[in-house]
Amino acid sequence: MSALAQTSWRPDGASDPLATRHGLIGAPVSRIDGPLKVAGQARFAAEVSMPGLLHAGFVYSSVARGRIKAIDTAAAEALPGVALVMTHRNAPRMKPPALFGTTPEAAGASDLPIMQDAEIHWNGQTVAVVLAETREQAEEAAALVAVEYESLPAVTAFAAAKAHAHPPESVLGEPAVLEIGDAEAALAAAAVKVDLTFTTPRQNHNAIELHAATIAWEGDRLTIHDASQLVTMTAATIAQVFDLDPKQVRVLSPYVGGGFGGKCLWDHQILGAAAARLAGRPVRVVLSREGVFRLVGGRTQTEQRVALAATADGKLDALIHTGVAAMTAHNACPEQFTFPARHLYAARTFKLVQQVAEMDMLANTFMRAPGESIGTFALECAIDELAEKLGADPVAFRRGIEPEKDPTSSHEFSTRHLNEAYAAGAERFGWAKRSATPRARRDGEWLIGMGCATGTYPYYRMPGGAARITLTADGRARVAAAAHEMGMGTATVQSQVAAERLGLPLDRVSFALGDTELPPSPVAGGSNQTAAIGAAVIAAHTELVKALLKLAGNASPLAGLSTDEVEGRDAGLGKRGDAARFESYASILRRAGRDEVTVQAEAPMPLELQKWSMHSTAAQFCEVRVSESTGEVRVARFLGSFDCGRILNAKTARSQFRGGIVMGLGLALTEETLFDERSGRIVNATMAEYHVPVHLDVPEIEVIWTDIPDPRTPMGARGIGEIGITGVGAAVANAVYNATGKRIRDLPITLDKLL
Ligand code: MOS
Repeated sequence: MSALAQTSWRPDGASDPLATRHGLIGAPVSRIDGPLKVAGQARFAAEVSMPGLLHAGFVYSSVARGRIKAIDTAAAEALPGVALVMTHRNAPRMKPPALFGTTPEAAGASDLPIMQDAEIHWNGQTVAVVLAETREQAEEAAALVAVEYESLPAVTAFAAAKAHAHPPESVLGEPAVLEIGDAEAALAAAAVKVDLTFTTPRQNHNAIELHAATIAWEGDRLTIHDASQLVTMTAATIAQVFDLDPKQVRVLSPYVGGGFGGKCLWDHQILGAAAARLAGRPVRVVLSREGVFRLVGGRTQTEQRVALAATADGKLDALIHTGVAAMTAHNACPEQFTFPARHLYAARTFKLVQQVAEMDMLANTFMRAPGESIGTFALECAIDELAEKLGADPVAFRRGIEPEKDPTSSHEFSTRHLNEAYAAGAERFGWAKRSATPRARRDGEWLIGMGCATGTYPYYRMPGGAARITLTADGRARVAAAAHEMGMGTATVQSQVAAERLGLPLDRVSFALGDTELPPSPVAGGSNQTAAIGAAVIAAHTELVKALLKLAGNASPLAGLSTDEVEGRDAGLGKRGDAARFESYASILRRAGRDEVTVQAEAPMPLELQKWSMHSTAAQFCEVRVSESTGEVRVARFLGSFDCGRILNAKTARSQFRGGIVMGLGLALTEETLFDERSGRIVNATMAEYHVPVHLDVPEIEVIWTDIPDPRTPMGARGIGEIGITGVGAAVANAVYNATGKRIRDLPITLDKLL
């Protein structure tokens, strides 16, 4: 069978992932939602208008642990425009949300009860919600709610929590402890080794769009216009909280102004729905920027140890990566920082241990490459230090410890071309010009250095995705799935996938998403959505071809052909390799007396993940300039060289990679949630004091990729939403060392640490 002309994708990898005959795959197609967004016509969750809409204001606890002793809402209720003040005394009865990961549909970021009692679990927990005619009235009234607390002893210091650290039951379904051989003994016996401690801070989600939901009840039917990266799961979990049938809850989220793991189910949607029910009117919730810090978790704090032992010939004899992440007793995000070390390098012995330390704080959550982003910081800085001790070039050293198969599982890699990515990246970046000796290059007060690091992120494809295709007699296709558009180009890329297979021009294909009335979708997380939805679109296309062949019948030139023998081309179906046997979609449908045909199919189970070790990799290169007078670090150049399978859209991919790298620059240099360890309060709950990179912080970023298809994935592609941030922290830190001779093992690399 032709490797380029399969209509179906099979999980055993037997058939080609995707045809590229129509030139749509990989094409730099601009986002089809772009014009709507720049024209202000894309309607976001906070922009949905409804008659009688009330606006919510939130009151946040100021203690980390304790009970509400008294709560006085009289002054708030007396303000003009106030319709409701909801506290634990009058909130409707609700079940705690099922915790993410406990069932396929559970979306709860935490499984704490929400406003059901007087208990306080973190500093910032919502203790009252005010509804008023305007947002300003709601905010003013919220400020007048007087709460008296009985404080209880709280664990708000990392050192105290760490004393009771323990391995969690599992880390994303993987064991928390993985040991091969006796790595500590190998380390003790080694002549060349490093044994280092790295620390990384809390970080908060700061998507441009604030968390928002516009919520309405109609009897027992609940509609939520949400900013969400998991509509299907949100609807299921909200139904569970309010004891409804999942069909009674509709969640819509056609546009999301940035997700990154944070646009999931938090207390605000549930509290908004509860308050709307009590008030008998629709409600709009828009968290303030401070509210996002109080109610929406982010990346958690870690302390990591990386110890590496080298053999005389530059191989790894021991790879030890252990550490502790802060977490709560009520959430499920242990921050998988040891995962890169499980798959990146060949070593004779391994010791990889994850622990969690429970604190009284807001539940931490997924934030772009949770685990891998900060895990690669520690691992890749340590690799750089070991390479230096060996007198080896860091690129050459890494290329020498490249494994032939997954080093900690028995699986072969589906594909892996990290060495090619390093070679291409090093060449393009001018790595050969780097001096191995620190402080060798300067420009006046500016010390100049280069660093590199490996990035990596797993391929995931979550089950449960489905897609529907409606083909109409005028030669158009409407594709639909309850997928998510957080700005990465979901609709654009899936339209390309569908149009390519259908043999239709791109402008004849539409893709509807972000609505639970469409076929269900898993979370847009773990960089899995492109593969998950793409597999569903391909499955639906296969069903469509079957249906069309049936409709075509014996009078068609296609008579007798099977689905495997035909392909979509020229707005119709044709026999592969046979230009003569063809019938247009219009003709097939007209002869069958049909205006349209609709099919729906589920993606096949992700069996590929059981057979192969599937990971994207990247070679990240950075050049920094560090002021010798002030310690200020400026990133001068950055290049990411990626091996992520087939790239489906060169333009949206470039943006994803660049966006990940920009976020990595924040992780490296500026982002830090300041957590007052005495009170458990986040003290920089504002973008004025929590620093994300701005334009002047972001240099020329070049991205290149291998574009070698992964034959084990649908379409040959692997998700690319998260890999961009991985390795960036270490590439910057290693460049800072090359410039200054100082190893900074504590993020972010602020100027005080360099003086
Ligand atoms: Mo990503 S942190 O799984 O949105």
